[in-house]
Amino acid sequence: MTRIDSYVLHGQTQPSGLSEADWETWRVMEDAADEGLVGLLGISNVAVDQVKALVCGARIRPTFVQNRCFVRASWDRDMYTLCQKENIVYQAFALLSGNRQALVTPCVTEIAHHHNKTVPQVIYRFALELGMVPLTGTTDVSHMREALDIFDFTLTHNEIETLLTLRGPH
Ligand SMILES: NC(=O)c1ccc[n+]([C@@H]2O[C@H](COP(=O)([O-])OP(=O)(O)OC[C@H]3O[C@@H](n4cnc5c(N)ncnc54)[C@H](OP(=O)(O)O)[C@@H]3O)[C@@H](O)[C@H]2O)c1
Repeated sequence: MTRIDSYVLHGQTQPSGLSEADWETWRVMEDAADEGLVGLLGISNVAVDQVKALVCGARIRPTFVQNRCFVRASWDRDMYTLCQKENIVYQAFALLSGNRQALVTPCVTEIAHHHNKTVPQVIYRFALELGMVPLTGTTDVSHMREALDIFDFTLTHNEIETLLTLRGPH
């Protein structure tokens, strides 16, 4: 039987709160999990109040939140903090594509030089150290290898603070 490992609700019908249609969709996803058609459930492009509502009202809680992780939104801090509290895996996307200007600032390139790594590797390592699962959208084999080569170094406390306090364009 074909089975989908991770089934993610891409977006809700409204920016805040969950509508009847959203709940109906989640119930169908729960049924699909019950039937063994899909494995773990997740939700994407979601706001903090929506995850709280889902955690309270769902029969099967989300395993994943998949969100844009923008420097200008403090790396989606409120959401990844909630995910840690609720034991939900935070999957970060747009780490590179959404933060291009912030990632060419000298303080970021200096961190990369210090570790003899590239800026994308520093950002993926940073995301890991915040407890996130970093996603890459690369179509390039060497970039994929690079993304996987982040387990032989750690960032210092000061480097993490520097990255946490980066300011992106508004
Ligand atoms: N839930 C949603 O609504 C949603 C929306 C968008 C994306 N996603 C998912 O999120 C994941 C990440 O997608 P993303 O668009 O956020 O990816 P991303 O990695 O932030 O951006 C992809 C871009 O960055 C470049 N890139 C990647 N690694 C690089 C490296 N080491 N050095 C230089 N450039 C690099 C890629 O070019 P190359 O191809 O040349 O490496 C591509 O132009 C994907 O799995 C995607 O399916 C989810």
